[in-house]
Amino acid sequence: MEGTLPPERRGFATDRPPDAIRRYSEAERLTHWAVALLYVALFASGLALFHPFFFWISALFGSPTTMRILHPFLGVSLAVLFFAYASRLWRDNLLLPSDRIWLRRMPGYMNGKDETPVEGKYNAGQKLMYWSMIAFVAGLLLTGLVIWRPYLAPSFGMTARRTAGLLHAVFGFVMFVGIGVHFYAAVWTRGSMRAMTRGWVTRTWARYHHPGWYRRMTGKVAE
Ligand code: HEM
Repeated sequence: MEGTLPPERRGFATDRPPDAIRRYSEAERLTHWAVALLYVALFASGLALFHPFFFWISALFGSPTTMRILHPFLGVSLAVLFFAYASRLWRDNLLLPSDRIWLRRMPGYMNGKDETPVEGKYNAGQKLMYWSMIAFVAGLLLTGLVIWRPYLAPSFGMTARRTAGLLHAVFGFVMFVGIGVHFYAAVWTRGSMRAMTRGWVTRTWARYHHPGWYRRMTGKVAE
């Protein structure tokens, strides 16, 4: 019986239109959400390590000692997964001359007043966010390695460790603001979350937000 049903009626109901466009593979979505989960755990434990006001958060990890041991391991795991994921996307995030126009018209786009041409899979705002994520994840990883006790920290001098500790906190704060913007943009752009949860977008979404990518995926001209 199962085999005679069309794919969309097998197992569970779905609202996926037959002409939906695939935006992310299962592996990409799983990696992205693993990175997001690790980020939340890292941010929470980072706050608890940063200031006594947030010390209570360590209870969520079992004990302060467990949290202190886990934090760097979670950080290395995030960096490995993030760079594995990001290495699949770099080509689509290369900045093009047309991205300047998008950046100039961004305020109008945010207010829904302006239609701005987007040539590729991502708009200029997403591309800049992508490259900043690369820089800040790398910065957090490198500074984190320098202050990682008891393993690597003893190989560095006091000045290097102090500077790395300070930069680690600054990068962590900037990353928090960046991920906040990323989260807001993901929720604010209707249909975007579905791309990362279900893997597909509607043709209307693709034509409206990324007409160039729509053309590439369908061979059709976006009206
Ligand atoms: C905290 C919750 C998060 C939510 C709700 C979220 C949501 C999303 C969504 C919906 C997309 C798809 C956008 C599109 O295809 O147009 C996306 C893409 C992406 N996300 Fe996240 N994300 C989160 C956390 C993170 C974190 C922590 C990182 C990395 C540290 C990250 C890195 C990325 C990257 C690199 C992309 C691809 C965008 C590009 O290549 O320009 N996300 N995210």
